[in-house]
Amino acid sequence: MAEKIRVCAEGEIEDGGFKVIALREPVAIFNLGGEYYALNDHCTHEKCSLTQEGYVIGDELECGWHYAKFSIRTGEVTAPPATRNLKTYQVLVEGSEIFVVIPDPE
Ligand code: FES
Repeated sequence: MAEKIRVCAEGEIEDGGFKVIALREPVAIFNLGGEYYALNDHCTHEKCSLTQEGYVIGDELECGWHYAKFSIRTGEVTAPPATRNLKTYQVLVEGSEIFVVIPDPE
């Protein structure tokens, strides 16, 4: 059964910012203009932390190791050397709280 995990209160993540929560895998929740997106924080190239080693540039996330880029909105690779998209997660805003939905392990 999928798990619904509380991330924080809405407003704790500023526009253009993010918060990382440590689950089975680290999940980064981004605020882009009031829309929230959740992605696996590990680069699919060599697994560094994208939020610790990389950069948010508009609606993309650039890896600081070899400069692969990913869409924050979709998790898709937008620049090599990564070839696999980032895993994405459903985000729920309920009242003034933000939650992320983590599916069962595959
Ligand atoms: S580890 Fe991210 S591009 Fe290589």
